[in-house]
Amino acid sequence: MTQKPQTVLVIGATRGLGLALAEEWLGRGSQVIATMRDKPQGLESLAARYPGNLELEQVDIVEADTVTALRQRLDGRQLDILFINAGIARSIELSPVQAEEKDFLDMMLVNAFAPIRTAEILGELVPAGGTIAIMTSELGSIANANGSWQLYSSSKAALNMLMKGYAAQHDGSGHTLLLVAPGWVRTEMGGSQASLSIEQSIPLVVDMIEANRGKPGLRYVDRFNKPLPW
Ligand SMILES: NC(=O)c1ccc[n+]([C@@H]2O[C@H](COP(=O)([O-])OP(=O)(O)OC[C@H]3O[C@@H](n4cnc5c(N)ncnc54)[C@H](OP(=O)(O)O)[C@@H]3O)[C@@H](O)[C@H]2O)c1
Repeated sequence: MTQKPQTVLVIGATRGLGLALAEEWLGRGSQVIATMRDKPQGLESLAARYPGNLELEQVDIVEADTVTALRQRLDGRQLDILFINAGIARSIELSPVQAEEKDFLDMMLVNAFAPIRTAEILGELVPAGGTIAIMTSELGSIANANGSWQLYSSSKAALNMLMKGYAAQHDGSGHTLLLVAPGWVRTEMGGSQASLSIEQSIPLVVDMIEANRGKPGLRYVDRFNKPLPW
């Protein structure tokens, strides 16, 4: 009997790590639903390479109604993995006295508040035994903080805190909950000086997600599945 391929939803998949996550799961035979805010960018050529296996959807996690609309379009479907990847970095080298307040508020909204709201809205499509993963960062660790990317790091620490709350409120859901730290990777956000290529990060991230399948509870882990200090 052939097994039904798993369904993976990647939120924020037009470029960088999200696009690579979609491509990696497609390459492993999954059915992938990938979201863009407006333009599909890299998703266009991926859709041509994987006709039938890649579904494109439109979501801006800051606009709750776009997330709710996706929830309605997916009614009756089951997600084996919901991966919320969307994130931004602004004023990365600046301190609170130097940065525009708006940059900090935007990061708190996009990186912390909106991903958890998205998990609240779409999480009910994930059955017990499924996985909800959110892209955080090694920089979200308060215990390991050294002051770099101070404002961005704070937004990821806030994400981690909100995910703790989500886990407590959904205790008994049977979901594997993962806060994923992918390493410092060369993307538009990571920059050209980053230590890892996308190929050195994302296949390991997907291996790690698969290794955690069916293990309920919340973990903050890196791409090697190593727990990180909160
Ligand atoms: N690169 C690194 O070194 C690194 C390290 C640790 C963690 N991370 C995290 O990994 C994730 C991906 O980072 P990346 O390096 O791939 O960044 P990136 O190249 O800047 O890509 C960011 C992605 O997020 C999407 N996005 C941004 N705001 C969104 C919103 N409001 N709604 C929906 N999608 C939105 C973007 O869509 P558009 O194309 O429409 O803008 C894009 O697809 C982020 O959460 C980031 O914080 C990255």
